[in-house]
Order: sequence, then structure tokens, then C-alpha cells
Amino acid sequence: MKARIAVLAGDGIGPEVTNEAVALLQRAGDLYGHHFEFETAAIGGAAIDATGDPLPTATRAVVQRADAVLLGAVGGPKWGTGAVRPEQGLLGLRALLGTYANVRPVTVLPALAELSPVRADRVRGTDLLFVRELTGGAYFGAKSREQGTRDQGVVATDAMVYSEAEIARVVRLAAGFARERSGQLTSVDKANVLETSRLWREVTTRVVRDEYPDITLEHVLVDSFAMLLIQRPTAYDVVVTENLFGDILTDEAAVLTGSIGLLPSASLGVAADGAVRGLYEPIHGSAPDIAGQGKANPAGAMLSAALLLRHSLGLERVASAVESAVFGVLNAGARTADLCSEGAVSTSEFGRLVRERLA
Ligand SMILES: NC(=O)c1ccc[n+]([C@@H]2O[C@H](COP(=O)([O-])OP(=O)(O)OC[C@H]3O[C@@H](n4cnc5c(N)ncnc54)[C@H](O)[C@@H]3O)[C@@H](O)[C@H]2O)c1
Repeated sequence: MKARIAVLAGDGIGPEVTNEAVALLQRAGDLYGHHFEFETAAIGGAAIDATGDPLPTATRAVVQRADAVLLGAVGGPKWGTGAVRPEQGLLGLRALLGTYANVRPVTVLPALAELSPVRADRVRGTDLLFVRELTGGAYFGAKSREQGTRDQGVVATDAMVYSEAEIARVVRLAAGFARERSGQLTSVDKANVLETSRLWREVTTRVVRDEYPDITLEHVLVDSFAMLLIQRPTAYDVVVTENLFGDILTDEAAVLTGSIGLLPSASLGVAADGAVRGLYEPIHGSAPDIAGQGKANPAGAMLSAALLLRHSLGLERVASAVESAVFGVLNAGARTADLCSEGAVSTSEFGRLVRERLA
């Protein structure tokens, strides 16, 4: 197949890890007979420096004509907290693509279980897929700040709002993944307290009963799930939850793996015509403390490329081969600096080992 991929490397270690992801996609294309065309564009701080805009018009055009978008990371101390910030580029990009679900696989490799802050015997075998609703809930509801009574002082509000349609579309995506994996879906909410969570539970139950009767659905309260994730992470497979809970739980889950540099993500939206819009990026930030030193772990970016192959291009076999190559190199003992105290391989050396293994 032919596919056009927009490459937005961004700031800090973004360009270093994205280079390795692009080189891996190129190699995968050559090996499996696919032609990938890469178009690069500026985003974040780099785009502010070049144009004053974190998501310039030229970048929007590149994104809109692409089949999928690969992103590095944005931000850094250079751009501070002024009115125009690198992170606005990322938010603008998500809005442009209409991505409403964030998908994060969390896999603990046997060879890396000892690096987890949680006991190795508890985390070994963890293989989770989080699906977080991305455009609703408290982050996007009406906000206000007003003077209360004299006793109260200032009163602030963030409205948590969800519609049936918003819940149903993200649950359908998660249920589809559950069907392809173990057939087990866990929905996390706070239905004992929140009205949005009661609606979440009703809609989730109905969608699964009517459209995915072959999968098993379990509801868990978010406070309980935060504990269970540490106590027995291997008991879960696909987990779907709303925006705020997902933000917190996915960071908690990321810690289980031993390094933030290992984890990929996909932000997905399914358009009215059924086309998948996808933005793929490692979960880490621009890591200014190690930028330009060849110390960054490119695994998260490379595994994000695998998600791109799977979700935007439908190339499951190639995606699995890429994942096996990354995991294989880690299981064989190659370690970037975030995973060991001595004998580390550089970012580009790790990338080369993965490409060799794929071949
Ligand atoms: N999606 C994004 O682009 C994104 C996400 C988070 C933070 N940020 C931005 O990144 C900047 C730095 O944020 P931060 O320091 O809180 O988070 P960070 O993820 O950049 O770094 C946290 C720590 O993890 C390390 N680290 C991160 N990725 C690594 C990798 N691939 N290999 C090895 N070590 C890695 C860093 O060296 C640092 O010690 C900020 O400007 C923040 O706004 C961007």
C-alpha cells in the first residue's frame, strides 16, 4: 500500500526519537512491500521560533493531507508559560483531527519487570490497553470563578459534562479492541457519587449488551481501581474510562513498566465516513534535561509507529513485527540510559538494533 505520514518532531528529544521511528517505518515498508511517504512540519516551540504560531497554517495543511500523524514531543523551558505556548500546538492538532479517544498499551516485559517500582512478581505479565475519553468531562466543561460569600472567598467551578453519544463512541472503540484481544472489558467510573458516571455506566452496559454481547464487561469504581492497578495489574486487559480518571490512571499504569520512555500512545477519532484519524506519539514529554545527548529511549516512539501501522493503515502483521522487534531488542538486554546505570546504548544504536532485528 501507499501511505502519506505527517512527521511533527517538535522539541527537545522529540526529533531524536522521531528519527528512529521514521527509520523503522521506512525499513518496515521496504521489507513488507509498502511505500510510505513522509512529510515533515513544525509544531510546538520549534514552530513558535520559526513562525510565532505553535501550529502554523503550513503544518495544518500537511496534517490534513496525511493518512496519519507521527509526533515527537513539544515544550521546554525556553518557551516558558507565556500567552503563546508549545502545548497549544498539540491541543490544536487534536481538535483539528477530531481525536476523541486516547489509546495507551501498557506492557511489562519479563526482562524489565525488576525495574518496576512494584514487586516484579506482581507486574510480570501485565498487558493492559487503556482507552481514555479525550474531549469531554471536567477538562472541557464550563469553567467559572466568582466571588462567593464573605466566608467562602472565591468560588471556582469546572463542570463535568458527558452526552450519551460521547460515551457510546469511545465505548464502541474500546469494546472493539476487547473483542480482538481477550474479550474482557473493564469500565472505570464513580457511579456511586457522580451523575456523569451513572450515565457512563448505563450507556456502557447498553452498548456492550446490544452490540458486543460476546465480550465480558465489568464495572469498577475509580478509587478501587487505583489500588487494584498496583495490587494485581495482570487481572485486567482493556480498560475504558472518562477523561479525568483516564489522565490519572494512565500515568499510574505507566510507572509499572519501569520507564516513561517505553510507552506509546494513539489518539483516535472515527469520522462520520468511517475513516480513522490518528495521532501517534510516545507518552513522554520533550525531556529537556537529556535533549541532544543521545540518551533518549526511542522505544515509546517506535512502538507508536507500530500503533500507526495497526490503527491508521490496517497493517496488523507489520505492526506486530515492529513490536516484536522492539520487545526482542529489550529482552535481549539492550538498555538505553533510563533503564540501566552502566553499559547504556545510545538512541541511534537502539534504533539500529531494532531495524536489524526486524530484518
Ligand atoms: N505530549 C507532549 O508533547 C508532552 C507530554 C508531557 C510533557 N510535555 C512537555 O515536556 C517538557 C518536559 O516535561 P517533563 O519533564 O514534565 O516530562 P518528560 O516526560 O519530558 O520528562 C520526565 C523525565 O523522564 C525522562 N524521560 C522522558 N522521556 C524519556 C525518554 N524517551 N528516554 C529517557 N528518559 C526520558 C526525562 O529525562 C525526565 O527526567 C515540558 O515542557 C512539558 O510541558 C510534553
